[in-house]
Amino acid sequence: MESRKTRSMLLTILITIVLMDVYFKNLIAAEKVTPKVAAMFAFGDSLIDNGNNNYLRSLAKANYDPYGIDFGQGFASGRFSNGKTIIDYLGDFLGLALLPAYASPDAKGRGIIQGVNYASASAGILEETGRNLGERFSFRQQVENFASNLNQLKNVMEGEQLGLYLNKSLAVVIMGSNDYINNYFLTSFYATSYIYTPTAYSDLLIQQYTKQILALYRLGLRKFFLAAIGLLGCIPNQLANTFSPPGTCASFANDMALMFNTKLKSQVTQLNRNYKDAVFVYGNTYDVVADMLINSTNYGFTVTDTGCCGIGRNQGQITCLPFSAPCINRDEHVFWDAFHPTQAAYKLLVEKAYNGPPSDCYPVNIKQMVDM
Ligand SMILES: *[C@@H]1O[C@H](CO)[C@@H](O)[C@H](O)[C@H]1NC(C)=O
Ligand SMILES: *[C@@H]1O[C@H](CO)[C@@H](O)[C@H](O)[C@H]1NC(C)=O
Repeated sequence: MESRKTRSMLLTILITIVLMDVYFKNLIAAEKVTPKVAAMFAFGDSLIDNGNNNYLRSLAKANYDPYGIDFGQGFASGRFSNGKTIIDYLGDFLGLALLPAYASPDAKGRGIIQGVNYASASAGILEETGRNLGERFSFRQQVENFASNLNQLKNVMEGEQLGLYLNKSLAVVIMGSNDYINNYFLTSFYATSYIYTPTAYSDLLIQQYTKQILALYRLGLRKFFLAAIGLLGCIPNQLANTFSPPGTCASFANDMALMFNTKLKSQVTQLNRNYKDAVFVYGNTYDVVADMLINSTNYGFTVTDTGCCGIGRNQGQITCLPFSAPCINRDEHVFWDAFHPTQAAYKLLVEKAYNGPPSDCYPVNIKQMVDM
């Protein structure tokens, strides 16, 4: 009797050891393919929208050919490029699958665990920005949409577990271009340029922007990549509208982007000082794109002032229309349409943000941030 009990106990221990061995071997195996972050949450505009506007009553949509011609899934997903965007390439670096668009049916249940893309074409920091193009998720609304996903995640994770998960997640914010292009510069639609000087306007934007960043912090996010605004005066649409001579850009538009960027960078320094349990990184996309435009041949670009798909001056007066034929040498163009870069340019931007020196990504790059 006694010995049978002992034998059964030994057997139980043996089985436990075998199971633990299998368990730990699986853990190690899983580690090799484990993504570098728990999840990525993206907030932004058409530069990274991956289909949210497909579900809105908006004129700002990219769900038709030839958008996505190089994406490799045989359809236009709603990305404003010939292929992948910054978020897609960043996901590759981080070992994540493509993020679902918040408004798509994929963004529910297990579909949101590795992150969600909230970006909406024509949206901006200010609530009114982009209203000339119809519905959009403003930055504030995008933060609310994230909060609603967070409530869903609370059903599958305990408080402490959720805190750790958010701590290991990355927030990416690419916002602000539309507050100029689809607000301040559109003087017939918006009053902002009559109310605010350029300086006062950039102060207002930074203040509203910081408010949303802190809302995300309070919801639990701790790692932030905050991208600068690009060279607004060099996009084909601005070149066309301002009749910029070849080789020049609309300097007033670039100067306004620079003013915003300078303030964003000092805000990042301030945030890092005030919130020691979080990391805020400034992505210097402005200088990275400037380098691409000026030292274009270093990167294999031969066309820097003309859209690959579009009509009129600089192929930027009317942006890429349904079924229009795009250029063939898409990897040699910085700009895909009147407003947006090609995937070749997006890829370079991500390489610099992920691995670049502090002049490209400050004070640390994304790789360093996610390793913290
Ligand atoms: C998140 O991580 C940071 C270090 O990266 C740490 O200081 C902080 O306490 C962590 N917070 C939570 C909720 O785990
Ligand atoms: C162009 O390349 C040169 C040499 O590498 C560099 O010094 C300069 O800063 C680059 N221009 C821009 C706008 O980045």
